[in-house]
Amino acid sequence: MRSSSLMPTPEQVLRERSWRYCRSASQASESDLVLPRRTILQGDAATVLSRLPSGSIDVLVTSPPYYMLRRYGAGRSEIGTEESVSQYVANLVKVFEGAVRVLKEGGSVWLNLSDGYSRHPRYGAPPKSMLLMPERVLLALAKRGWVVRNKVTWTKPNPLPSSVRDRLTCTWEAFYFLTRSRRYHFDLDAIRVPHVSQRRPSDPTGRSLKYAAGKRPRWQGPLAGSNDGLLKARAEGRSGHPLGKNPGDTWRMATAGYRGAHFATFPPALVERPIKACCPERVCESCGAPWRRSTRGLTPNCRCRAGWHRGIVLDPFMGSGTTAIVAERLGRDWLGIELKPEYVELATERIRVERAKQEEVNKNDNEGRKTA
Ligand SMILES: C[S@@+](CC[C@H](N)C(=O)[O-])C[C@H]1O[C@@H](n2cnc3c(N)ncnc32)[C@H](O)[C@@H]1O
Repeated sequence: MRSSSLMPTPEQVLRERSWRYCRSASQASESDLVLPRRTILQGDAATVLSRLPSGSIDVLVTSPPYYMLRRYGAGRSEIGTEESVSQYVANLVKVFEGAVRVLKEGGSVWLNLSDGYSRHPRYGAPPKSMLLMPERVLLALAKRGWVVRNKVTWTKPNPLPSSVRDRLTCTWEAFYFLTRSRRYHFDLDAIRVPHVSQRRPSDPTGRSLKYAAGKRPRWQGPLAGSNDGLLKARAEGRSGHPLGKNPGDTWRMATAGYRGAHFATFPPALVERPIKACCPERVCESCGAPWRRSTRGLTPNCRCRAGWHRGIVLDPFMGSGTTAIVAERLGRDWLGIELKPEYVELATERIRVERAKQEEVNKNDNEGRKTA
């Protein structure tokens, strides 16, 4: 069993040592690389990624610095301070080149990006124009083989007030979901939400729908969606999936309330769904395949007959450590990269405090169960 105490286990110490070894020996072969877990590696994201073992990460959940919106004072390799938006895109693409290598084949990426407005043509757009930075990044990634599966709209009930009088206030940010291949790990059941209506369908035959299963009206284009899933559910007398409905791609969540020394933190709720859906609770220790969820609980999905370890989420722009905190709460492993040493310290302390709180909650729950 994994120890949840604050002292590193001998296994963790060993991993840390091998990590140091790899850092000093730039010629270390791929088989020497051991993936560190539950730690933050200080350095530039693209450089640190190049030293991690290939095919070792289940999902990347991250929010890089947006272009020219903040100054983190993180040093020369700080992303977001480039002279033009195209240089910024090139730097992010470099980080994603590293991500391609470290992700497992069925792995994925959740990427939070938000646009800014130009003040001078040198930034890459006429003054007052949106830079279209997220669009530029996504087009560059799609060109390099990334499969763009979703653009989630994170709408904020508490957006920053603005005094602009000649355009609308910005009240949402994009959260992109990307994969490397057409087949990847996605546990929809883990993130379903309750149906709004529990009524049984009034039209079980589905005749009121515009067309029958497998048939498409002539006016539909080749990329139009189908009604087949809905028709199947109706034929079975259900109004939807018994475990709840797909949460959809508009998420309404307040911005983060963390009051530490970092000023651009994720709201924990925002990273919960990506981790639950894309970071498996258990993976095979030998081949890395995610275990399958079934009515019998979690079962292996390979023939290795090996043990398991937790799935792992990587945040290459760790900031104050929100991804790690949510991952631990959900029983997943995590790994962070952060350029600014002060933020590494800040996040490590924040994670330590949250872990202690969680241990207290777990202890009280266990005691409650014993006395019940
Ligand atoms: C938007 S913040 C991330 C906030 C994080 N999601 C949280 O909840 O705290 C971006 C972080 O990226 C770091 N950063 C900037 N350039 C970097 C680079 N080249 N490599 C790694 N980290 C970098 C900044 O110091 C900053 O902490």
